[in-house]
Amino acid sequence: MRILAIETSCDETAAAVIENGKNVLSNIVSSMQSTFSLQGGVIPEEAARKQVELILPVIGQSLSVAQYEWKDIDAIAVTKGPGLLGSLLVGTTAARTLSQLYKKPLLGVHHTLGHLSSTWLAIEDDPVFPILTLSASGGHTDLWLRTSHTHGQLLGSTRDDAAGEAFDKGAQLLGLPYPGGPSISKEATNGNPDAFHFPLPLKKESGFEFSFSGMKTALRYTLQECDEKNLPVADLAASFQKGICTHLLDRIEKALDAYPDIQEVHCVGGVSANIYLREELKKVASPKTVRVPQKIEFCTDNAAMIGAAAYFLITENAAEAVSPFQTKATSPLSELLAA
Ligand code: KG4
Ligand code: ZN
Repeated sequence: MRILAIETSCDETAAAVIENGKNVLSNIVSSMQSTFSLQGGVIPEEAARKQVELILPVIGQSLSVAQYEWKDIDAIAVTKGPGLLGSLLVGTTAARTLSQLYKKPLLGVHHTLGHLSSTWLAIEDDPVFPILTLSASGGHTDLWLRTSHTHGQLLGSTRDDAAGEAFDKGAQLLGLPYPGGPSISKEATNGNPDAFHFPLPLKKESGFEFSFSGMKTALRYTLQECDEKNLPVADLAASFQKGICTHLLDRIEKALDAYPDIQEVHCVGGVSANIYLREELKKVASPKTVRVPQKIEFCTDNAAMIGAAAYFLITENAAEAVSPFQTKATSPLSELLAA
């Protein structure tokens, strides 16, 4: 089954052609990050206007790179939410129109379910459930215990900022460009992660929730104590990165203790691109199989993951997968997955 997938939830315009949920025939991402990097973040109206310009060329390119025509495509998948409403509407309107014009079934896919499926892209073997998945991006930080693609339990989410958002806000405080994750991790390569200490959030509380707002405040206080003219940016970046990742890993370690049946540990979303996190995760999760997306372009927002999720939705519940959907800026994935 060949699915043409579209993802426009934020500041990327993306389209991909995916075969049977795993085989990536094309994965086109046109990012506006360079436009927004100097502004310190995304301006929603500007992002939506740019989406309008880019959507059809990006879809066209995804077909031409895959060397397919519309007649070769079996279904169209699109991110239905959550995200920036204007951006989402551009993708879903294009998908609805193309589905009518070319008479293809249309599937609305939850953005986070896309991230959860990204570890299946471009792999040969089949991951084994139950899988513990940390999904950490600029908009969410969730810990899932999944028994299939459409069945799972949300063990915990963030109470305040998302992990990626903490990187982005931290970078802003350190005077580093947006998005903060890549710029902090680049700066951190020359720094000492133990130079400053960021206390572990929610240490004494039971459960699997996350909280990152205190860490951002701690960074602000630490900066006030530093010599402004001689700011140890690399040390601060390395220590802040360690603080965020240690909190993420602490929750994973707790979940592994609580659920010994877990077969594999996956880490997805923009933050899963982080090298320090990947290395430490292997240590914490050993001897379980650890998977992160095969390519960095599958960690950050992309349409390939939406095509993968759509395929698994069809294979597990075809009637539900092609049912009508609304485009929504907010929608919890926990309401869509069965326990
Ligand atoms: O999944 P994603 O592309 O978009 C959302 O769904 O939000 O994630 C973007 C987030 C940003 O906050 C960015 O700073 C973070 O992922 N990110 C990283 C890295 N690359 C991207 N965080 C840490 N380390 C990275 N290497
Ligand atoms: Zn995302």
